[in-house]
Amino acid sequence: MKGNITFTIIKPGAVAHEHIGDILQKISDAGFWIAALKYIKLSHSQASYFYAIHKGKPFYDELVEFMTSGPIVIAILEKENAVEDYRKLIGNTDPAKANPGTIRKLFAESIQRNAVHGSDSDLNAKKEANFFFSKCDRFDRNGNFLEISD
Ligand code: CMP
Repeated sequence: MKGNITFTIIKPGAVAHEHIGDILQKISDAGFWIAALKYIKLSHSQASYFYAIHKGKPFYDELVEFMTSGPIVIAILEKENAVEDYRKLIGNTDPAKANPGTIRKLFAESIQRNAVHGSDSDLNAKKEANFFFSKCDRFDRNGNFLEISD
């Protein structure tokens, strides 16, 4: 069965350009429930841990530097088939290749400054959501604490 949550980051570039409201609106309009939401600035160790899978890639150092350069918005989004549907909504990692109307086509500046992150699998969605939000910070559509199964 497909999981029903994904994890997103509105990245420093999109925050600096005042796109938080527009992006959250597109998320809601697409039928996602915002189950958890925080406005934070990542430490170097948080960004390194979050992007550990990319360590050693040519863009890794710049990615960590960029992701720690300013405030970000993090959120857990709930919807049936959340990971796949959210990846469709945000579009290709490279905004030059993203479909018209997608969040990255509308708000990204480059492959690195690509406006938003979206989990790439159900497993990573759970890991990412649990890394940033404890159970008492997340709510389902009925206002109950959101359970995230292992
Ligand atoms: P994100 O979904 O946050 O996951 C990893 C990030 O690495 C990705 O979005 C991009 O911002 C960045 N990234 C991936 N490929 C490249 C690349 N070729 N050059 C620069 N940044 C990249």
